[in-house]
Amino acid sequence: DDRTRALADGNEIPLLALGVWQVPDGRECEDAVRWALELGYRHIDTAQAYGNERSVGRALRGSGLARDEVFLTTKFNPGLRDPEAEAQRSLERLGVESVDLYIVHWPQGGPTWAWDGMQRAHERGYARSIGVSNFSVSDLDAVRKVADVPPVVNQVQFSPFEFRRELWEACESRGVALEAYSPLGTGRHLDDPRVAEIAGRLGRTPAQVLIRWALQRELIVLPKSTHRERIEQNAQVFDFELGPDDVAALDALDRTQATDRALEHPWW
Ligand code: A2P
Repeated sequence: DDRTRALADGNEIPLLALGVWQVPDGRECEDAVRWALELGYRHIDTAQAYGNERSVGRALRGSGLARDEVFLTTKFNPGLRDPEAEAQRSLERLGVESVDLYIVHWPQGGPTWAWDGMQRAHERGYARSIGVSNFSVSDLDAVRKVADVPPVVNQVQFSPFEFRRELWEACESRGVALEAYSPLGTGRHLDDPRVAEIAGRLGRTPAQVLIRWALQRELIVLPKSTHRERIEQNAQVFDFELGPDDVAALDALDRTQATDRALEHPWW
């Protein structure tokens, strides 16, 4: 199946997810998730810090889909103390017995302190897989050094414009799948003339080109939208391919080479 990949712990993860960062709790979030599930998405990515787990849970439970048909991710807010206790609170808000993936949202307070609690959440069955987000290679290695259960994903900002090849290759060589958030540059990359040219030539939209670029690298990709027609459009990405020239042209849009150090910790 070209729509999923196996994580290093053996769990299957759908490559395309709806991201709901910055979608307020309530009707807007519930509608977006409900539409996504109707339109074939089988992976929803939320977080404690987004404040919208209740709406995600309502949409999921209202979808008529069995729990094991949908891959559900939430994230531990490292401003709080205890990943295990917070997992229970997330599960309560989501109204589910477990999530598929539980992630340390960013390496606040250092990359390793939360990992014990993450492993306890995993051991107690609150999360089938555990991972990290916004971790640099050295953060990742620090966790791997103390881990009994190593992280299987690292979720970072990633697109042709933020194509952090070294980070990506380091993740993959460590059995850590890369999840691409803000794959459309929070919308900013959709106006780029070079992306638009490729999209026009292929009869696709810029959003579809950027999502497809990530999929062809076997990245897990998390475009966000609250508009039904865009949610639908963003999922119509399994019926075309970018040729090697277009992939290379998109790769060349990377502007992180010179600034990779500055980008290492752009999150706080
Ligand atoms: P909206 O949520 O109003 O539909 P990213 O995934 O990189 O964070 O980008 C999300 C931004 O891109 C949001 O502002 C979203 O707007 C917009 N967006 C998502 N999909 C599309 C699309 N297919 N066409 C145009 N804009 C889109």
